[in-house]
Amino acid sequence: MEKIRRTKIVDLLQREDYGAQVCVKGWVRTKRGSKAVNFIALNDGSTIKNVQVVADVEKFDPEMVKLITTGACLSVVGEMVQSIGSGQNVEIQAQQIEVLGECPADYPMQKKGQTMEYMRQYAHMRIRTNTFGAVFRIRHNMAIAIHKFFHDRGFFYFHTPLITASDCEGAGEMFQVTTKNLYDLKKDENGQIIYSDDFFGKMTSLTVSGQLEGELGATGLGQIYTFGPTFRAENSNTPRHLAEFWMIEPEVCFIDLPELMDLEEEFIKYCVKWALENCKDDLEFLNKMIDKGLIERLQSVVETEFVRLPYTEGIKILEEAVKNGHKFEFPVSWGCDLASEHERYLVEEHFKKPVIMIDYPKDIKAFYMKQNEDGKTVQGTDVLFPQIGEIIGGSVREESYDKLMKRIEEMNIPMKDMWWYLDTRKYGSCPHGGFGLGFERLILFVTGMQNIRDVIPFPRTPKTADF
Ligand code: 4AD
Ligand code: MG
Repeated sequence: MEKIRRTKIVDLLQREDYGAQVCVKGWVRTKRGSKAVNFIALNDGSTIKNVQVVADVEKFDPEMVKLITTGACLSVVGEMVQSIGSGQNVEIQAQQIEVLGECPADYPMQKKGQTMEYMRQYAHMRIRTNTFGAVFRIRHNMAIAIHKFFHDRGFFYFHTPLITASDCEGAGEMFQVTTKNLYDLKKDENGQIIYSDDFFGKMTSLTVSGQLEGELGATGLGQIYTFGPTFRAENSNTPRHLAEFWMIEPEVCFIDLPELMDLEEEFIKYCVKWALENCKDDLEFLNKMIDKGLIERLQSVVETEFVRLPYTEGIKILEEAVKNGHKFEFPVSWGCDLASEHERYLVEEHFKKPVIMIDYPKDIKAFYMKQNEDGKTVQGTDVLFPQIGEIIGGSVREESYDKLMKRIEEMNIPMKDMWWYLDTRKYGSCPHGGFGLGFERLILFVTGMQNIRDVIPFPRTPKTADF
C-alpha cells in the first residue's frame, strides 16, 4: 500500500476536506468504548488538542487492540470524517493501526491528577502531559516573541560567554569551572589554590549574568540583547529560584532612566500580549486547570500602566503598613533590601498593579549602577510583578571612569581581570543602561504555574541535577 505522509494533529484539526485519507502518529491519552467500537484520544504534542480515532474492533487483530493502552505510541491511517461527539470538528475512522511503541501499565504518567512534586520526579515523562505540553509550548512562544521584539527594534542578538573570570553581580554565587584534580589540589605557601596550571590559567566560573560583556557589545553596536543560560550557586530553596536559569539582557546606549523603564514595560507587555494572541488553546487549558484568574491577570497587565516608584517612597508605604498593623516576617526600614513579602505587599495589596521601583540605596545594589546626585542612591530599577515579585532587575550604568573606580575600590571588587570593562569608560565612554529579565519568572507569570521548577524542562536546584 502507498505510504501516506503523516499529518500533524494541529494541522489536521484545521482541515475540512472530509473523506481524505490521512495518517497521524502520536501517543494514546485515553481509550474508551465497547467491545465493538474503541474511541482513542491521540496526541502528538503539536497542540493541546487530541484527535479522536474511532476503531471498529472486529476489523483489527485482537492482540494488537490489547496493546492500545494509555501512553502507547501509534501510527494510524484512516478516513478523516466530520465529528459530532469528540469536541473537535474532525475525527479519524481507522483503517490501519500500528503500535509503534507499547506502554506497560507501570507508565508513570498513567494516572491523572498527580501532584507537581510527583511529576517532577518524572521530568523526562511529564512533557507528555497536557499541563507540561502547554507550559513548554508557551515557553517556546515566549522565546520567539523575545527575539522578535528586539529584532524589530534594531537590537542585535549578542552572544556572551558562559565561562568567565568575573562576578558581575558581586554576590559570590558562582560555580567554579576547573579541570584540576580535586583530590590533589596544589596550594601555595599561603594555602591558596594555584590556578596557573588550570585549564584557563586562572580561576574561572559559570557566568551569573552576561551584562558586562553585553555592555561591551552595546558600546560597539549601539543596542544589543543576550538570551542565554546563567548560573547561580545561591542556596535558595524557593519556588522562584533556580541554579540554572535563562536570562534576557538588553543593553542600550544613550538611554536614560525613564526610557529604560519604558523599554522594560513595553517589553513585558509585548511578551504577554504575544502569549494571549498566539497561545490561546494552551492558556485556556491552564486557566481552567491551574489558575482560574490567569487570562484575566494577563489581560490586565497588558492594559495597565505600571507604577513607577522611588525606593524611598516604597519604604514609606511599607512603614505605614506596619504602623497600621500589617505583619511582615522581616523588618523594613530605609536601606534594607526588600524581601519578597514587601515587594508583594506593594504590588498585590497596595497598588494592585506591577511596580517599577527605582533609586535604590547604593549599598544594596551592584557596583556598576549609576550614582545619583544625592550620593546615597543609584539608578537601579526592579520590576515587581503580582505573584512573582522581582521579574526584572536593571539599571542605568555609571559611565564616569572616576566614579566607577571609586565605587569598585569602596566595595573591594577584584578588578585585576576586568581591565577590559573599565576600558569602556576610558575610551569614548557613553551613557547606557539595560536590564535582565528572568525568563522562567516570565514563564511563571504567563502560565500561572506556582513553582519555577515546573516551567523549565529539567530544573537545577540545590541537591537536584537529575536528567
Ligand atoms: O537582578 P539580577 O541579579 O540582575 C542582573 O543579573 C543584571 N546583571 C541584569 C542586567 O542589568 N543586565 O537578575 C535579573 C533577573 C531577576 O530580576 C530575576 O528575574 C532573574 O534574573 N533571576 C533569577 N531567576 C531564577 N532563578 C534565580 N536564581 C534568579 N536570580 C535572578
Ligand atoms: Mg535583582
